[in-house]
Amino acid sequence: MYVITGATGNIGSKIADSLLAKGEKVRVIGRSKERLQRFVDKGAEAAVGDLNDGAFASSAFTGATAVFAMIPPDLAARNFRAHQNEIGENIAAAIATSGVRYVVNLSSQGADLSEGTGPILGLHDQEARLSGLSGVNILNLRPTYFMENLLMNIPLINQKGIAGSAVRGDQRFAMIATRDIAAYAAERLVKRDFVGNTVQDLLGQRDLSLNEATAVIGRAIGMPDLKYVQFSYEDAANGLVEMGVGKDLSRLFNDMSKALNEGLFAVNRPRTRDNTTPTSFEEFAETFAEYFAHAAPRKAA
Ligand SMILES: NC(=O)c1ccc[n+]([C@@H]2O[C@H](COP(=O)([O-])OP(=O)(O)OC[C@H]3O[C@@H](n4cnc5c(N)ncnc54)[C@H](OP(=O)(O)O)[C@@H]3O)[C@@H](O)[C@H]2O)c1
Repeated sequence: MYVITGATGNIGSKIADSLLAKGEKVRVIGRSKERLQRFVDKGAEAAVGDLNDGAFASSAFTGATAVFAMIPPDLAARNFRAHQNEIGENIAAAIATSGVRYVVNLSSQGADLSEGTGPILGLHDQEARLSGLSGVNILNLRPTYFMENLLMNIPLINQKGIAGSAVRGDQRFAMIATRDIAAYAAERLVKRDFVGNTVQDLLGQRDLSLNEATAVIGRAIGMPDLKYVQFSYEDAANGLVEMGVGKDLSRLFNDMSKALNEGLFAVNRPRTRDNTTPTSFEEFAETFAEYFAHAAPRKAA
């Protein structure tokens, strides 16, 4: 039995689909019975509950051969780091009490750093927490910046005809499609070929800058002149708050953008066959175009 946290999210959903397609036994975790139903229809067992509830997490992990563990973001949290710590502690306790022996933990590039990386600090803490468990084999996946993050630009493109964030437009860094993370995680969950506490970087197909990425997206959505604009940290945080992101996480996102701008992570990692994944940014741009086509146009008059 494979237990998948964040099963309705970007990565968990694709892991669950892939394991179910292979005929594996899967238990999907999420807070909504309705949202989990599509996996149940394919043969999964649903564990409906909140990972803030430690007893629920322990019972949901019980009987697992392997767990895909992640700390789901709460974008509106008043104290985002406290939210990460609470769920992280519940996951660690659930691993210990359920006796599961294999865990693929979703971490991040930058999780090796103990300061200055914003929300990634929660994943740094989680790697440390899990490394303290005995008798468990842990594979910490450290994917880079998700290509899907750029979907947040859709309202901005619709309203103002630009893409933007606080990250420098000319900084080249690694970006990955979440389907590549899911495919990798599913494979290692099934193989269970990791021993002790291990780390795997996942760096996407190639490094590219946000200027380059925006040009690719522009061509895919029929706006070949689409430009990327670097916002001030203040404007970027205000924009995120307008989109419903909490003030605390907006501040942490700025810390992460600063770390990217200063080349602290996801930059100049040795790229190898082992940490390079297949999906190109051009392929992701086709997905972006589908989302863009379905988003309600909100262009100012
Ligand atoms: N964005 C990046 O560039 C990046 C890079 C590296 C690592 N990461 C890490 O990747 C993770 C996010 O992965 P993702 O994009 O696949 O996640 P996601 O799409 O945000 O999905 C998370 C899922 O978790 C569920 N969930 C939320 N709160 C929950 C709770 N309290 N209890 C139980 N389930 C809950 C939600 O499903 P329901 O609403 O159905 O419950 C949601 O679909 C984060 O840990 C982030 O730090 C992100």
